[in-house]
Amino acid sequence: MEGGCPLGPPSSEVRWPALRDCLDLLEAEGCAQGIIDHSIVVAQLALAIASACGADVDMVFAGALLHDIGRSRDGCLGHVIASADIIRERGLPEELALIAERHLGAGVGAEEAEGLGLPARDLRPVSLEEKIVSHSDNLVYYDEILGLDAFCERMTEKGLAGQCEKARAIHAELSELCGFDIEQIFAVIDQGPQTTERRVVE
Ligand SMILES: [Fe+2]
Repeated sequence: MEGGCPLGPPSSEVRWPALRDCLDLLEAEGCAQGIIDHSIVVAQLALAIASACGADVDMVFAGALLHDIGRSRDGCLGHVIASADIIRERGLPEELALIAERHLGAGVGAEEAEGLGLPARDLRPVSLEEKIVSHSDNLVYYDEILGLDAFCERMTEKGLAGQCEKARAIHAELSELCGFDIEQIFAVIDQGPQTTERRVVE
């Protein structure tokens, strides 16, 4: 019969770099081990949230792994722009560049960005995937998941209580989508050797 489909459906295109590719990129850009460790913990948490609330898990995982890649070029706030630049230079999907560009705190508008010495662009997370990575980053401090209250304490100490309010709103939005408070996810995330040691001691 003519018009059949002898080869079957086209294979699905792999759009998102996998774990090994992301780690290779972080190393190739000269990221410090602390940045890589932080990014892996953020990616674990972001992946868990993404799978619970119906986001694109592969996009979120790659975006979280690469969100701080620009810290190899800029150790300050500008690393969000540097991360997006590197992701674009490497020819990776624009969605990953936007995840990186929009992960500062719980969202920074164009005017605020300009006041911080950044390009006058709206850097607030828009897509679900952008919100998940940015919020996961807020919940992680270095390579530990400390949660929302700890983020709020850090922001309040810096005189940035507005960031805390924005983070609480995103937290509520993601929890609503997941159907449970996403802080419940923390208990089931394996944070590596430190967690294993604690288990052995306890
Ligand atoms: Fe960052």
